[in-house]
Amino acid sequence: MNNKRSDKKNSFSNVDSSDDPLQFVKCMDDQYEHNSILRTNKARTLALADIQPGMIVLDAGCGTGVDVATMIQLVGASGHVYGVDLSEAMIASARQRIDLNNSPVTFQQASIYQLPFEDNFFDRVRADKVFQHLAEPEMALGELFRVTKPGGKIITADPDHDSLIIDTPFTEVNEAFVRFRSRHMAQGGIAHQMYRLLKALGMSDVFVEPRTSAYTDYNEKKVSSPYLEEIWMANEYGIVSRDAAQIWVDYLEAAIENGQFLCLQTYIITTGTKPVL
Ligand SMILES: C[S@@+](CC[C@H](N)C(=O)[O-])C[C@H]1O[C@@H](n2cnc3c(N)ncnc32)[C@H](O)[C@@H]1O
Repeated sequence: MNNKRSDKKNSFSNVDSSDDPLQFVKCMDDQYEHNSILRTNKARTLALADIQPGMIVLDAGCGTGVDVATMIQLVGASGHVYGVDLSEAMIASARQRIDLNNSPVTFQQASIYQLPFEDNFFDRVRADKVFQHLAEPEMALGELFRVTKPGGKIITADPDHDSLIIDTPFTEVNEAFVRFRSRHMAQGGIAHQMYRLLKALGMSDVFVEPRTSAYTDYNEKKVSSPYLEEIWMANEYGIVSRDAAQIWVDYLEAAIENGQFLCLQTYIITTGTKPVL
């Protein structure tokens, strides 16, 4: 079944080809503003990255550069941060937000599959919520490995779309919907595959941190994951009947209204060190 989503909502795989690339910039900003769990998770990826003054660091798929700003503080004047993104719109937005003349930073439009850097260049390489959008994750990981110095660290993080839980009494609709959503991402299950992929590359000290969060405020979720709209796409694809979708939506709207909404999502951070040969 080839039913990958073609709607704009899920086109982070190629932002610039959409009708309105700035919509994705706004989506990133809204998520960052409204989703406190996302901010906490981001901070944890940076803590696990253990970025030290003087380091050369890559944020691959940097988006609007929200984390590059923090990385600049961590590397200090003697280090350098590179922010790379496939999207010109994202890179333009990142460049507007950071004082480029007085910061050790370079933003470049480039694909994660073909990074414009020499082998063994970076002390730290991070990709946050990028692999879920990639058609060829192993190729991308190979490229991150290539540009990482021996002894350097790769840090990846993505939501695990396969294990999403949305509490309703309608188990079959829940299961069908979660599976539908995940299969329509480029890589809905990449978060739990990254341990295997980093091991397969021969990385050492491979570490996995699953961070399951309880979302009880739908407003925090709906910017990136508007389930009450997405269920209708599942209906369009024939995964869920119209009646079942309506009952599910009615139930969740009432749960949101009376404070019983619960969604559990696991964000998985995986880190590994490139061996020194
Ligand atoms: C969900 S956003 C995450 C942005 C940022 N890492 C963050 O956490 O705020 C995914 C980003 O990956 C970028 N992206 C998608 N495919 C890419 C590719 N092949 N190479 C580089 N960046 C890519 C998108 O343009 C987008 O900015």
